[in-house]
Amino acid sequence: MPFNKLGLYSSIVRAVTAKGYGEPTPIQQQAIPVVLSGRDLIASAQTGTGKTAAFALPILNRLGPHKLPSPRVLVLEPTRELAAQVDEAFREFGQFTDLKTALIHGGVGYGAQRNALHKGSDIVVATVGRLMDFLQERALRLDNLQVLVLDEVDRMLDMGFINDVKTIVSLCPKKRQTLFFSATVPPEIDAVARFALSDPIRISIGRARSVNESVTHAIYPVSQGLKFSLLVALLEKTNFNSVLVFTRTKHGADKIALRLKEAGHTVAVLHGNRSQGQRTAALKGFKDGQYEVMVATDIAARGIDVAGVSHVINYDVPMTPDDYVHRIGRTGRAAAVGDAFTLMTPQEANDVRGIERFIKATIPQLKLDGFDYKAHPPAASAGESDFRGGRRQGGQGRGRSQGGGGGGGRGGRPGAAHHPKGKPGGHWQSGGRH
Ligand SMILES: Nc1ncnc2c1ncn2[C@@H]1O[C@H](COP(=O)(O)OP(=O)(O)OP(=O)(O)O)[C@@H](O)[C@H]1O
Ligand SMILES: [Mg+2]
Repeated sequence: MPFNKLGLYSSIVRAVTAKGYGEPTPIQQQAIPVVLSGRDLIASAQTGTGKTAAFALPILNRLGPHKLPSPRVLVLEPTRELAAQVDEAFREFGQFTDLKTALIHGGVGYGAQRNALHKGSDIVVATVGRLMDFLQERALRLDNLQVLVLDEVDRMLDMGFINDVKTIVSLCPKKRQTLFFSATVPPEIDAVARFALSDPIRISIGRARSVNESVTHAIYPVSQGLKFSLLVALLEKTNFNSVLVFTRTKHGADKIALRLKEAGHTVAVLHGNRSQGQRTAALKGFKDGQYEVMVATDIAARGIDVAGVSHVINYDVPMTPDDYVHRIGRTGRAAAVGDAFTLMTPQEANDVRGIERFIKATIPQLKLDGFDYKAHPPAASAGESDFRGGRRQGGQGRGRSQGGGGGGGRGGRPGAAHHPKGKPGGHWQSGGRH
């Protein structure tokens, strides 16, 4: 069914066409009519399958013309970068309307955001910490709210976010529409969601909590001492476009980035200890192709949409299985395919088993041809045990600081890919591999 048969106004369909979308994805086909009907919704669909448009398009449609004084839509996002991306999506999809958006997140000055709120916006896209600040100083009221969206809902309801989310919900009018979206909606959401939703419709595309079929993933067992050498060897043998490397800790991200630069790669770094200026520059440089590798903590695991990411490499096995699904979902988005490699030391084998139980699938274990698994670890690997044991890094956190992406020479990447490359472009999955 084409977009113009889903009940959307021509101004919205025009924007969708301008964005280059042809057909709606399965989650869009199912969610758009529900959101238009005003019902509450819990929706899950795999990573990169267009959940943003699945809520943004019908919301824009429902709003009608720009209206003051306070926002009618609030979208909560778990990180600053994701809030910026979703704000941008609303502006693009709303470009032929007069609706106004405001982006609210930490790490930058309050002045411009306060002004935007003062002028009046129909849609506010926000991270929780800074939103709470503005609510407390009464720069923002939620009395006129009609739609509340919790994107990445399971992350938003993790400990650390839940109390603030509950406070925000309590400040919204009782009569409103509430929408939950994520690639990983756990069954426990029911208990936690009771305070926010009323008689919700549920939509689940694909098998629950599964990895997007557009991503081919594999485990590479390796000793701790040879991990970095294997990473470099994988990059050398892989015909990649852009690579996102995940580490568990911020310190680990910095250290790996530095060593990759020394190995001749252009590298950006994204984690919560960097200034917002540095974070923004890193992500922009990575998107623009200035950096071929971005090393990041789980702050980049959720929602971030960068078109050219051909490979995700988990330098460390993620702390939680849902992080695995989200991390590797940074590749194989829209109609593209991608590869994900996870380096696994013997100490991480249990975590991998937990991931396999979660996704209800066995991940193939591979060895890199020509790599000397019996080599003596290089001296630089001595301190690498500190990559383990860090806690997850998600969340924008209040008052966190930042710094920009690194430079470095262009790395050569000869040779054929270890994973077969040149797979045909996919199309929107509704189950099954293509
Ligand atoms: N109907 C469509 N046709 C073509 N491309 C689309 C369509 N809908 C969305 N896209 C593109 O697909 C990509 C992924 O969309 P989006 O970021 O909304 O995915 P998501 O389901 O929210 O993923 P995640 O779970 O990782 O947050 C984006 O680049 C988006 O522009
Ligand atoms: Mg998303």
